[in-house]
Amino acid sequence: MTEMKAKVEEAAESLRPYIRDEQPVGLVLGTGLGTLVEAMEHYVAVPYGDIPHHPVCTAPGHQGRMLLGEWAGRFVIALDGRFHLYEGYTPKTISFPIRVLRTLGTKMVVISNAAGGLNPDFKAGDLMVIADHINLTGQNPLVGANQDDWGVRFPDMTEPYSKNLLELAEKTALSEAIKLHKGVYAGVLGPSLETAAETRFLKMAGADAVGMSTIMEVITAVHAGMDVLAISAITNVNLPDCYRPAEIEDIIRTAALSGPTLSRLLEKVIKQCPLTG
Ligand code: HPA
Repeated sequence: MTEMKAKVEEAAESLRPYIRDEQPVGLVLGTGLGTLVEAMEHYVAVPYGDIPHHPVCTAPGHQGRMLLGEWAGRFVIALDGRFHLYEGYTPKTISFPIRVLRTLGTKMVVISNAAGGLNPDFKAGDLMVIADHINLTGQNPLVGANQDDWGVRFPDMTEPYSKNLLELAEKTALSEAIKLHKGVYAGVLGPSLETAAETRFLKMAGADAVGMSTIMEVITAVHAGMDVLAISAITNVNLPDCYRPAEIEDIIRTAALSGPTLSRLLEKVIKQCPLTG
């Protein structure tokens, strides 16, 4: 057993008293989107610092706790506070909570994030379901010895985002009259925001949105055989020929404004999603 696996098992073990007789749905809360779990009921909040070996948060807009409880009629484990490469966390550290979720039986994870729009059709406050991504971080959580019972050495990435969940999200958005774009997310290292030239490059590469999170978690979840649904709250739109500064306070504020709509959408999706295996 690798050292990482031993630590994940120990972390998961400490949470077992709160685990129910039902497959948990994982939920990762992005920047400014902590309010997503306001509707959660009968939950236990465990500070990250109380979970053995679990990393703790430093980024603005992030708490640092795991919430285990009911949402949308399901048993949900929400990660309220996430880890970014730009904070200096290693890809393996960022993958840690996802491994814990999987060890606790989670097979589906819903990931939210705040992202900058690149597609000129997007507006601040819009939502985008991620159909695919471009990993431009230069990092990968699977580098190093492979833990074979967690997943294969070279995981397939033809469908990192579950088509079924994506279709369910689109169908639900339509029936709820929620505007939901679909697009490609470019993951960058940060923390500096993109230059106008980088923005132009990302658009040319086929990205519709750019952000500094999500990719490490998604690769980990795919490696672990989990179904992933990821939705970006578009907090600003970057047009390289009319380039404006993006302030972190505005990004957090705009993400928070999307919270209630995203929450309504995810609640309906989680209610309907079939739990596999
Ligand atoms: N760039 C990168 N990450 C972001 C942005 C952006 O413009 N907005 C929110 N997260």
